[in-house]
Amino acid sequence: MQSEKTGMQFLDVIKNRRSIREFLDKPVTDEVLTQILETGFSAPFAAQLCSVIYTRNRDKMLEAGLWTYPTAQVHLIYFIDLVRLEKIMTKRGHLYGYDDMMAIWLGVQDVSLMVENLTIAAEALGLGSVLYGLAPLKADEIAKTFNVPKRVFPVVGMSIGYPDPEENTEIRPRFPLEMAAFENEYRHHSDDDIDLCMKKMDEGYISQGYYIKSKTKVPLEDKEDTIGFDKYSWSEHISRKFRSAFRIGNPLIEILRRHGFDLD
Ligand SMILES: Cc1cc2nc3c(=O)[nH]c(=O)nc-3n(C[C@H](O)[C@H](O)[C@H](O)COP(=O)(O)O)c2cc1C
Repeated sequence: MQSEKTGMQFLDVIKNRRSIREFLDKPVTDEVLTQILETGFSAPFAAQLCSVIYTRNRDKMLEAGLWTYPTAQVHLIYFIDLVRLEKIMTKRGHLYGYDDMMAIWLGVQDVSLMVENLTIAAEALGLGSVLYGLAPLKADEIAKTFNVPKRVFPVVGMSIGYPDPEENTEIRPRFPLEMAAFENEYRHHSDDDIDLCMKKMDEGYISQGYYIKSKTKVPLEDKEDTIGFDKYSWSEHISRKFRSAFRIGNPLIEILRRHGFDLD
């Protein structure tokens, strides 16, 4: 067990974490990387259904269709991995017969915990990280570039490195705790609750000038965009992301099927 003081320092490391997108030109040594990876793999697991491929070669990421922040030093892709388990089962004389959807779910759980552990480990050693959520949609290119077999599937990408102090990132807001953590039963959010959620997020992002600085805006394909960068907020951004703009058919399930998952 940790002492209370160490425990509080540990919580501070987690609470002060923020995504890093600008990095120093300082290599991440093999020793540091191994320490981070080992900490990642010490996360709780359902069935160790995760693997990670890492590279210091950004061109390989670009070849795999994954744009990464240019100054990052190491790039990682986390996978759900059913192949290793199936090989173990074969040695044990058992035939895989699990529901693939549930296996994917367990895999995402395993990967998520590992990624978070790894994020914290990097942070504790003075490094920073950022994730890339679109990796699953690049599964074809990733498989080709990194020689990945079927039934091993990318969940998320990541870059790490030593943060550039010039970047000056701030801690992003979160929903008020009581709007997302409920004792005993679900909170059916009222209109006022939703206003509160939006206010906390939007005022936070706007006061930090997040969208002005990053010049990020999801374009509107079907109507005029009347919101300037000064008023463009988190709730507008996330709403635009989840409307039709990114919906082209139902790509993920088809990609999963192409990669050997039985989802019928
Ligand atoms: C699954 C996932 C995918 C993400 N994808 C991206 C991404 O593609 N590009 C990016 O710049 N940040 C990405 N992020 C980082 C989020 O934007 C960031 O975590 C969020 O805005 C909260 O900010 P913070 O990490 O600084 O607290 C991703 C985060 C998660 C958890």
